[in-house]
Amino acid sequence: MKNIPLAYSLDDVLLRPRFSKIKSRLDTDIFMPLTQHYSLAVPIVATNMSTITEYEMAKTMARLGGAGMIHRFLSIPAEEEIVRKLKWDNISPIIASIGILDEDRERAHSLVDAGVNILLIDIAHAHSEQTIEQLKYIKGKHNVDVIVGNVATGTAVEDLIAAGADAIRVGIGGGSRCTTRTVTGHGIPNLTSLLEAVEARNAYFDATKIYIPIIIDGGIKNSGDIVKALYFGADVASLGYLLAGTDETPGELVKNGDDIFKKYYGMASKEAQAEKGSIKKGIAPEGFSELVPYQGPVESIIENLVGGIRSGLSYSGANDIKRLREIGEPILLTSAGQAESKIN
Ligand code: XMP
Repeated sequence: MKNIPLAYSLDDVLLRPRFSKIKSRLDTDIFMPLTQHYSLAVPIVATNMSTITEYEMAKTMARLGGAGMIHRFLSIPAEEEIVRKLKWDNISPIIASIGILDEDRERAHSLVDAGVNILLIDIAHAHSEQTIEQLKYIKGKHNVDVIVGNVATGTAVEDLIAAGADAIRVGIGGGSRCTTRTVTGHGIPNLTSLLEAVEARNAYFDATKIYIPIIIDGGIKNSGDIVKALYFGADVASLGYLLAGTDETPGELVKNGDDIFKKYYGMASKEAQAEKGSIKKGIAPEGFSELVPYQGPVESIIENLVGGIRSGLSYSGANDIKRLREIGEPILLTSAGQAESKIN
């Protein structure tokens, strides 16, 4: 047992407050790279789930300085139509998802024709031969940036970078609607996963001067988590739960007495499988569905998150994220410290 490594979650750490010369939170800069060729003024993307991102979310997130990633659980013409509408609105970058099957190659062609800037090859366990073949095929055929995910280890990041990924999404089993860890016994707490990914990315950068952004995904609960992830080397945070229940998500309002909700479910849940047409035999669901409170416009959520990130920079005395990474000082918490911090 003594050789089994310990793994950490963002909940296990905080950053030490430091002397600050920052006069106003507005003096901070949170511009970050999203892929090799695209950056965001706000380092937040709405994740590609059918209960989070279609046209309205992608359009609004772009207006707010972030981006929305269109999900792939809709017909090819329907996904293509969303990309075309975003293109008419002059949105950039437009990001849309594909899977790893042969038919996803057709999906990729249609999305590229419609004007997509970034394809996300989205699969629950992306450190696989099929994913790498798909990535090589797409990069060989189309002139678009490709994000690949999700993975949880440094070797996965090395292999995907070597195969041509322009950004990598990291996080397995930490999503709020996710049961992968309990169903499969696999996964890595998000901080350790992120540290492995960042180490692999940085080694590649040192050798080539090519910077591949890391997108942290799953289980981000507040702006403090985003600040900590940025400090540890993530470039962008991908959000589901925090944006669920807003006006811009697909789906109807559900009324229960005076309370209003919207549905939010995992893409590997029974609900999502049913949405795709059938519940396949022999495949255990790895996600669940829940009603989440209606939250109004996503703009107010993003404003609060951005305010929190800027405030976080000022607590470290950093005017941007590059500086935060240079001077930030992490500390490890005990369970008493976590309770005092109201972390869970
Ligand atoms: P949050 O915590 O922001 O997480 O709601 C969103 C991320 O969760 C992942 N996801 C799933 N993971 N089973 C899983 O194991 C699922 O059914 C599922 N659906 C979504 C996904 O990476 C998303 O971005």
